[in-house]
Formats: sequence, C-alpha cells, structure tokens
Amino acid sequence: MNRNLRESFHRSYMTFFENAERTRRWNLFNDIDWDALDSSKSDPQLATNAETFFGVEMFLPDYLNTHLELFGRNYAQAWFAANWGYEESKHSLALREYLHRSGQRTEEQLHDYADTVLAKRWERPYESPREMLIYGMMQELTTFVVYRSQRALALETDHQVLADIYRLIGRDEMAHTKFYQHMVALLLDDDREGTLADLAHVLRTFHMPAEQLLPDPDARTALMRSTGINGQVYLRDIVAPTLKALDLTRHDLPVAKPGTTAPPHGQEK
Ligand SMILES: [Fe+2]
Ligand SMILES: [Fe+2]
Repeated sequence: MNRNLRESFHRSYMTFFENAERTRRWNLFNDIDWDALDSSKSDPQLATNAETFFGVEMFLPDYLNTHLELFGRNYAQAWFAANWGYEESKHSLALREYLHRSGQRTEEQLHDYADTVLAKRWERPYESPREMLIYGMMQELTTFVVYRSQRALALETDHQVLADIYRLIGRDEMAHTKFYQHMVALLLDDDREGTLADLAHVLRTFHMPAEQLLPDPDARTALMRSTGINGQVYLRDIVAPTLKALDLTRHDLPVAKPGTTAPPHGQEK
C-alpha cells in the first residue's frame, strides 16, 4: 500500500477512534439494566436467535487472526483490529450474559454450546485484502440490519433489556460499517477500476458467516427467516445503502466475469 493511502487510513482511523472514545463506549456491567430482566418472561425463539448470534460473535479469534494476517503491518488497520476486537468481544459477552441472567440457559448449556460452535473454524471467504475489506464492510452492515430486526422483535414482545442490548451492539456495528465504507472509498480513489471490480464481485457472492458456520440447513433456514433477510431485503437494505454511501450506483459496477457469479446472500432460498 502506498504512503498516501496509509496516511489517509490513519486519519480515518483517528476519526473513528475519537468518536468511539467520546460518544460510543458502553459498559456491560453498568449500561444494561440487568435488574429489569423478568425471568418469568422467556421466549424460546428470541433466546435461540440470541444464542445463534452469540455463537457467530464467538468466532472473533478467527476473524481477528485473518484481519491481522492480512493487515497486521498496516498501522491504522492493525489498530482498528485491536479496537474492533475489544468492541466485538462485548457483543458475544452481552448476549451470553442475557441468556444466562434471564434464566434461559445454564452455564453448562452455554459452555456446551461454545464447544459445539468452536469445533468449526471460520475461513476467510475471499483471497485478496481488498476483497476482504469490502467483505468486512458488507458483513458489518448485514450484522447491523440483523440486530435491528432482532431489536424490533424484542420490542414487539416486550423484552426491553434484550432490545437495549441489540441497540448498543447495533450502534457499534453501524460505526464499524462507516469506518469500512471510508476505507473502501479511499481504495476507490486509489484504484477505481480494480476496486469496482472487487466490489461487484463481493456484492454478487456475499454470504454472512452464519451461513458458513451453521452446519444444520434447518437451523440456517430458521435463522434467515427470523432475521427477515432475503434477496430483496439484501438489495434494498444492504446493497443500495452501501452504493449510496460510496457515491455509486449499480450502473458503476462492471458486469460479472463468466464463472464468478454465485447466488448472493439469501437468494438461494
Ligand atoms: Fe458484533
Ligand atoms: Fe462489528
């Protein structure tokens, strides 16, 4: 990576970090009203969803390893990974605490679940650093959309504490999305044609990690249904806002090279 780009990444990271430190920090112990949890109000579907997202967030070591392997020698991106990892570590902890404190899972069940989930490994879905950066951008926004839908479900069913947890986590995911969008915008400035080709490829082949990590097709289908993400929602709530944030339209994207298309997220169902 050239020096100009490295310096631009650094400035973007400083803005991201300043915003995080000044306005976005939250604390698992003080900022969630655990006392308001009503253990008589369990909801098996919401609990299963929370458990699944707890599981997906638990692959943090794999995500971090990949990120550091690809970007560890780039100061801004390495420091982003360190900060991002701290924030993401709270996401799985908050969901885990929720499941335990609401009485819907015992410690033993949570340890068993962790063992089952972590028997798998997350493998990076793209080869090049630029594709992985674009993938990260898409992944963060998809996660935001998923948590937004879970928050709405929790509110509808009067599970305020869970809704508050999803609000805090979702806010982090949106901040991550914006940082990635800044980096991709810088890559577009640096090499527009190459970045557009990678962007088009990732948009057409994107799958969220849950789809790779959940081996059971029934569990996968149930999860996708409960998140409300299908092909149409993917285009409307994830692809369209991404293009808009990058000041692009779909007409800017090159057509797919033969043999490089796969069904995009959710469309195979
Ligand atoms: Fe997260
Ligand atoms: Fe995130």
